[in-house]
Amino acid sequence: MKKIKLGVNIDHVATIRNARGEKYPDPLRAALLAQKSGADSITIHLREDRRHIKDDDLKKIKNSLIIPLNLEMAPTKEMLNIALKNKPDYVCIVPERRMEVTTEGGLNLTKKKKFLIKAISNLKKKGIRVSLFIEPNLKNIILSKELGADCVELHTGKFCRYFNKKKNINTLFLNIKKSAVLAESLNLEVHAGHGLTYKSTKKISKIKSFSEFNIGHYIISESIFSGLKNIINKFKRIINN
Ligand code: PXP
Repeated sequence: MKKIKLGVNIDHVATIRNARGEKYPDPLRAALLAQKSGADSITIHLREDRRHIKDDDLKKIKNSLIIPLNLEMAPTKEMLNIALKNKPDYVCIVPERRMEVTTEGGLNLTKKKKFLIKAISNLKKKGIRVSLFIEPNLKNIILSKELGADCVELHTGKFCRYFNKKKNINTLFLNIKKSAVLAESLNLEVHAGHGLTYKSTKKISKIKSFSEFNIGHYIISESIFSGLKNIINKFKRIINN
């Protein structure tokens, strides 16, 4: 049976660091721990406003990892140049709006067609695997193939929101499934990402076309609850010694 890979997104380690303007928690330390703990790849999103991951994080993480680094980036010239210079193993091109809290939807492939063809070709020439973050529909899958992408990452955000609110997810699930099956039949690698929790991941992983899940916010969130007891005990030892 094919093993599904887990890409661990560590952006929100940087979010916590930046909230205080300190040097900790260090995203590099999180990347190395995730690597040691079995992550198949590390994902970072260098946003145009640098709200979490900074250019220096990208350089340090790129130079330290053994497992692949997946750089999420907006379809802009600036980001393309950064990717070509830093040569992450993978690039996932994502849409970006300054005011959004997180990546709200998939790429508009038609609007960005000219840029994407050039960017995908240039990145692939450097040996970088290119993925497109798209809404799960058949048109987007066919277009992604035509544009020359290696992979598609299906945006699971809406599905997860409905799933968490216990709304009817049948149509959304079916769209993801049909898109994943078509993408696999076209020899595209099929990934899923955004908003995934233990429960929604379990549901989505019933679709056998997926080869990779990219998960961030929930992994970092749950880590708080796995770690809190140890940290409190350590502080109690420090203050009572
Ligand atoms: N995949 C892509 C393309 C993303 O933009 C993000 C969010 O940065 C994720 C996966 C991870 O989403 P989440 O943090 O909600 O798990």
